[in-house]
Amino acid sequence: MIKKCLFPAAGYGTRFLPATKATPKEMLPVLTKPLIQYGVEEAVEAGIHTMAIVTGRGKRAIEDHFDISYELEHQIKGGSKEHLLSEIRGLIDRCTFSYTRQIEMKGLGHAILTGETLIGPEPFAVVLADDLCDCEEQGVLSQMVEVFEKYQCSVIAIQEVPKDQVYKYGVIDGNLVDGSEDTYRISGMVEKPEPEDAPSNLAIIGRYILTPDIFDIIRKTKPGKGGEIQLTDAILQQAKEGRVIGYKFKGRRFDCGSVDGFVAATNWFYDKSKD
Ligand code: UTP
Repeated sequence: MIKKCLFPAAGYGTRFLPATKATPKEMLPVLTKPLIQYGVEEAVEAGIHTMAIVTGRGKRAIEDHFDISYELEHQIKGGSKEHLLSEIRGLIDRCTFSYTRQIEMKGLGHAILTGETLIGPEPFAVVLADDLCDCEEQGVLSQMVEVFEKYQCSVIAIQEVPKDQVYKYGVIDGNLVDGSEDTYRISGMVEKPEPEDAPSNLAIIGRYILTPDIFDIIRKTKPGKGGEIQLTDAILQQAKEGRVIGYKFKGRRFDCGSVDGFVAATNWFYDKSKD
C-alpha cells in the first residue's frame, strides 16, 4: 500500500520570473486553486493522506496554505463566501503535512533524497506539482497505485509526445508487458535526447511511485547534466535490473512549469468550469 506522497517543491521556477521571485511556483493558481493543491487532491483520491513536501527558501506560502487562517476564516464565517474555503479545509482535516528544506538546489534526485527523512523505508508516490493532470474517471496516481500493486516495483508515468519535442523530457526504452497496451517494462532511459537519439517518443512526466531502495541509489549517483543529481539516472539503475514499469496513463497533462502549458491548463479548466 502507498501511504505517503512526496512533493519536491524547492526549485526556483525561473521560467516564471518575476512572478516566482517571492511566490513559490507551486502556489501559482490555475483558476482559483494553486498547483500544489491539485496535486494533493490527486494523492488523496489515490488513498494517500500523508503529504511530505520538500521546500526551500521563499516557500513559506505553501505551509501557510495547508494551515488554518483563523482571522480570515472568522471574517467570512456564515457569509456567502465561506464555501470557497471548504475544499482546502477538507484537505487539512483529512491529511497530515510535513516539510523539510532542501538547502542547495542540486536537482530533482537530490530533492527526493532530501525527502527521505519524511518517507522512511517504504514505497512512496512522487508528484511534481507543475505537471498538472486531468483525468476523466480515475486520477493518474490512483491508476499508478493499481499498477504498483500488480508489479510491486517502481512505476513511472509516461505519455506519447511528438518526436520533435522529446528533447524536453526523459524518454524511455522498453517493451510492452503481458500483452498490455499501456504498460512497459523499462530497459533504458535518456534525459532530454535529440530526436535522432531518442529510443521512443514515450516521455516521462511528473508522477512516480518509487521503492525505497531509490534513496541508496541516489546517494551513489554522480551529478549529471547541469551538475544536478538526476532522478532519471537513479531510476535507470533500477530499470537495468528490470524493476521499473512505465505506465501510459489515461488522461491529459499540462506542463505548468512553462508559460504555454500554464495558459493551456487555465483555458482547459476554465472551459470545464463553464460546462
Ligand atoms: P524543474 O526544473 O521543472 O523546476 O524541476 P524549476 O527548477 O523550479 O523550474 P525552472 O526550470 O527554473 O523554471 C522539476 C521539479 O523538481 C523540483 C521543482 O520544484 C519542480 O517541482 N526541484 C528541482 C526541487 O525540488 N529541487 C531542485 O533542486 C530542482
